[in-house]
Amino acid sequence: MAPPQTFSSLAFALSLLAITYTVRGSNITKILAKYSDYSSFNSYLSQTKLAEEINRYPTITLLALNNDAMASFAVKRPLSVIKKALSLLTLLDYYDPQNLQQISEGTTLSVTLYNNTAGDSPEYLGFVNITDLYGGKVAFGSAVSGSKLDSYFTKSVKQIPYSISFVEIDAPIIAPGVLVPPPPAPPSSSSVVVSNITGLIEKAGCKTFASSLAESGVLKTYESAVKNGLTVFAPSDEAFEAKSVPDLTKLTRGEVVKLLEYHALPRYKPRGSLRTNKHKISTLAGKEFDLTTSTSGDEVVLHTGVASSRLVDTVLDATPVIIFTVDNVLLPTELFGKPPSPSPAPEPTISPAEGASPTADSPSEPPAEKSHSDSPTGLAKSKSANAAVAVSSPSLFTALVVTLATIAVSVSRCS
Ligand SMILES: *[C@@H]1O[C@H](CO)[C@@H](O)[C@H](O)[C@H]1NC(C)=O
Ligand SMILES: *[C@@H]1O[C@H](CO)[C@@H](O)[C@H](O)[C@H]1NC(C)=O
Ligand SMILES: *[C@@H]1O[C@H](CO)[C@@H](O)[C@H](O)[C@H]1NC(C)=O
Ligand SMILES: *[C@@H]1O[C@H](CO)[C@@H](O)[C@H](O)[C@H]1NC(C)=O
Repeated sequence: MAPPQTFSSLAFALSLLAITYTVRGSNITKILAKYSDYSSFNSYLSQTKLAEEINRYPTITLLALNNDAMASFAVKRPLSVIKKALSLLTLLDYYDPQNLQQISEGTTLSVTLYNNTAGDSPEYLGFVNITDLYGGKVAFGSAVSGSKLDSYFTKSVKQIPYSISFVEIDAPIIAPGVLVPPPPAPPSSSSVVVSNITGLIEKAGCKTFASSLAESGVLKTYESAVKNGLTVFAPSDEAFEAKSVPDLTKLTRGEVVKLLEYHALPRYKPRGSLRTNKHKISTLAGKEFDLTTSTSGDEVVLHTGVASSRLVDTVLDATPVIIFTVDNVLLPTELFGKPPSPSPAPEPTISPAEGASPTADSPSEPPAEKSHSDSPTGLAKSKSANAAVAVSSPSLFTALVVTLATIAVSVSRCS
């Protein structure tokens, strides 16, 4: 039998171990959420999925950028580049402000998360050089020889001893190649992904949308957008059958194409980024075919200017592609519009009732009753027909499929 002394110290050791694991079992996203100056940094850690990787390491020092520094770095940079930069700011070592200023011999190298993803690299590509300067200043730079040390420690933010240290630096560390986006995936692999996309959309209950994409040829447009990021809003089959959907059979081929292109964004926009969005977002259909977003509780609501639609599910989130289902067909104002308004578009408001109202974007402006003299097709007619009678949904659906089939035939004749 083990002496009680040994037994209790074993128990003590075990409980220490348990504490250590509990600490690292914690969630970096949650920890950083308390520090609003780093909300953008935190959001990018999630968007790039680095947060998940970070959570797997027992010891981490995060060199964090505050919201201003993050914004000026991230502007116009693809997520793939941001991911590389942020992995280089994730040191797989523990440095609190004190030991940063007491580095033996005044300089050291720390391995980062970037090392693990670098592939072919110049020597020390994934390492950061930490150097103590005169007057207690601490400088960081890429450890690749010839790099500048021009990122500086600015302040301490949070430490969980020997597990997570979170300090602020004033600028990102740029190692060779960090700013270069990785080459696009070979076409074969990306088309595999895309062919699964229509399958996934179909399985998620959006058969009409999936087959419309394929038949109209718009799937090709989606495919070629994938390399720069793609966000898809797939309306459910019920959404196409809803009474509020205008008579889509009256659309010309070009208009159907625009309508389908309107259901995707030419970039990767995960839910979190849609939630915080305050701007008009242009779609694959073009700059003027834009939409806005608002939140209602936990929900994200899309506003086209004609009607609103809720994000329902995330069908696929595989950077750079994300697919959501939505509960209404997105109707662009350019095709189904309200009259052009001289005043700027109203700010999306946050109201729980809004998602339900088809004219929520413009409570003071009812949808256009005037005829669209500039419209090349019978849209205005279809609109008033729709307003007057609730066309039965199955016939609408059939009609849409017929239109698309016609398009498919004419497309195949052309080619
Ligand atoms: C981490 O926390 C965030 C925000 O609290 C949450 O959305 C996310 O699901 C959590 N992740 C894990 C792995 O628990
Ligand atoms: C860090 O960079 C400085 C300046 O280039 C250099 O003098 C120093 O030797 C480097 N530190 C290490 C550990 O390589
Ligand atoms: C960093 O990269 C080098 C060279 O690619 C490799 O030998 C080393 O094991 C890597 N270190 C870590 C911690 O991944
Ligand atoms: C995509 O489809 C291919 C072939 O059907 C399959 O091998 C692959 O596992 C699928 N990929 C995903 C992510 O579902």
